[in-house]
Amino acid sequence: MKTKILEINSNNINLSKIKESARIIKVGGLVAFPTETVYGLGADAFNPQAVAKIFEAKNRPLDDPLIVHISEREEIFKLAKDVPDTAVELTDKFWPGPLTLVLRKSKSLPDIVTAGLDTVAIRMPANEIALSLIKESRTAIAAPSANLFGRPSPVNSQHVIDDLDGKIDMIIDGGKTRVGVESTVLDLTQNIPSILRPGGVSIERLKEVIEEIKICKSDKILSPGMYPRHYSPKAKVMLVEGNGKIQVEKVKNLASRFNSQGCSLGILAKEEHSNKYDSFKVKTIGPEKDLTIYAANLFSVLREFDKEGTDIIVAEGVKEEGLGLAIMDRLRKAAGE
Ligand code: TXA
Ligand code: MG
Repeated sequence: MKTKILEINSNNINLSKIKESARIIKVGGLVAFPTETVYGLGADAFNPQAVAKIFEAKNRPLDDPLIVHISEREEIFKLAKDVPDTAVELTDKFWPGPLTLVLRKSKSLPDIVTAGLDTVAIRMPANEIALSLIKESRTAIAAPSANLFGRPSPVNSQHVIDDLDGKIDMIIDGGKTRVGVESTVLDLTQNIPSILRPGGVSIERLKEVIEEIKICKSDKILSPGMYPRHYSPKAKVMLVEGNGKIQVEKVKNLASRFNSQGCSLGILAKEEHSNKYDSFKVKTIGPEKDLTIYAANLFSVLREFDKEGTDIIVAEGVKEEGLGLAIMDRLRKAAGE
């Protein structure tokens, strides 16, 4: 299959290009599109054959449910039932934005979207291209991240091309995504809301709306798609937690050991430590004091190391506050912890 690449400027959206992409969704095809978090691989959520093609293109196991993307808050009531008041409060505050809500599924959605679960994950992305694509398609769009299963999520169209060229109908190139890590997945079907996946909306911000939140630790697989080794580059990732001198020393020790074994080694460092590892290959992602930059660059840097044939990445961990929780979750998974 020839994949069409269509460039759309998010500041000046060309409606005829959006309509062309929406037509592909309507006839059961696959379109990769930008959201504020990462690129998604979309299909008509109400067309089971089209949704099946997503799993095939990504090599994704069928027991890993998809997020359904909508362009109007009210559509939540078509896809879900018994929607609690908390959900409405959360959507008022955080939608459009990187928050996915897990709710009781209504009958209308095909089972393949939710991997047979009686719950459905829904979000309204904060990206004008995504929103107009959904609107013009006149349906809800089921979309996982537009990467091959297990690879780091794509944050620009080149990443999507690298993984899916020739396997899908179209890729909309809408530039680099703003947030860089996926949405926070919050389950509202239990008595106490629980975070199944930390992401773009921090737990601190969620607590402004809901008092009590549980965080599911990744030692238990709670969200069906939360396989321990996920978001992985081809290189082996070793995560070094902590901060300051002690962290730098640990990174240097590990790096020297692998270097002496003849491995192609790279260090993934926070900006504050960028000049500490002169004798090694270092990539800096962003400062620990502004994790938005760090999050936005994380997946790109992991993919860059891969392109350069790096065998081992020694990665500096960051503090687990705000976006740091999502970043550390992705680094731990990349490390296969
Ligand atoms: O930011 C994002 O969320 C991106 C963009 C494209 O929207 N999407 C994304 O989708 O990251 P995906 O498929 O890569 O991750 C969706 C996560 C998976 O861990 C999946 O298991 C979980 O959401 N999920 C989906 N439906 C669920 C459900 N009904 N119950 C529990 N977890 C669910
Ligand atoms: Mg994914």
